[in-house]
Amino acid sequence: MPTLGIIGSGNIGAAVARLAVAADIDVVIANSRGPQSLTGLVEELGPRATAGTVEQAARAGEETLLSIPLAAYRSLPADLLRDRTVLDTGNYYPYRDGRIAELDSEEVTTTELAQQLLPGALLVKAFNNILAHHIPQLARPAGAPDRSALPVAGNDSGAKARAAELIDRLGFDTVDAGTLDESWRFEPESGAYTRIYLAAPDVPAEHMLRSPAAPLPAGKLRAVLQTAQRVKVAERTF
Ligand SMILES: NC(=O)c1ccc[n+]([C@@H]2O[C@H](COP(=O)([O-])OP(=O)(O)OC[C@H]3O[C@@H](n4cnc5c(N)ncnc54)[C@H](OP(=O)(O)O)[C@@H]3O)[C@@H](O)[C@H]2O)c1
Repeated sequence: MPTLGIIGSGNIGAAVARLAVAADIDVVIANSRGPQSLTGLVEELGPRATAGTVEQAARAGEETLLSIPLAAYRSLPADLLRDRTVLDTGNYYPYRDGRIAELDSEEVTTTELAQQLLPGALLVKAFNNILAHHIPQLARPAGAPDRSALPVAGNDSGAKARAAELIDRLGFDTVDAGTLDESWRFEPESGAYTRIYLAAPDVPAEHMLRSPAAPLPAGKLRAVLQTAQRVKVAERTF
């Protein structure tokens, strides 16, 4: 298994880094403040983890996890990500990212927009529809009866297969959710977004960050993806 580059060391980046080192995958992790700010996290992750610059993380492996706010995508070294499999965890939150006309008009999905900003990168949308604290709660070894599934969407079938292989090693089954133009099915407020991993899916929004997860098998995820309704993105206020 090649090294995994991780750009973004926040909630999702750190959660995936923990799964990676537990699965004996080396990681090179980066954030906006530079490697010196990652000393504590790298110590916690152990000898398989190295802190790097964004460029070093982008170059580190054939596969890169990209887990930063949408507004920061324009600052990425797009040339270094060309031909690499990039797992994009990004979501559009207007309160954080500002209003983005192409997303509000539903002309493109969030990862299609990312693809425009990162030409040549082999983008796979993944890990965007699960709350960060549910990732360690639900990760299981392959074959575990209570394993959960995550959706993956991408335009390059080889990249999607590599992403699925990585995610399997990290602790989840995957469901192929189609191409990037179909990935709205697991974007915010759609049917296949974060609540599907809650033990009590109807908890009030303010309690979600403290609510425990419950396993979601692949068959159930597939059914939820199929019946998802596209939300009116322009009407989303958060
Ligand atoms: N949190 C969740 O439960 C969750 C669930 C699903 C999807 N997502 C999505 O996943 C993405 C990341 O979410 P998060 O919660 O992990 O965010 P977060 O905790 O705020 O972490 C964001 C990370 O991105 C880094 N960053 C920001 N600008 C950067 C740049 N220009 N270059 C390199 N790194 C940069 C930050 O660096 P510094 O630490 O140096 O500031 C930080 O490490 C977002 O699009 C979010 O919507 C989040």
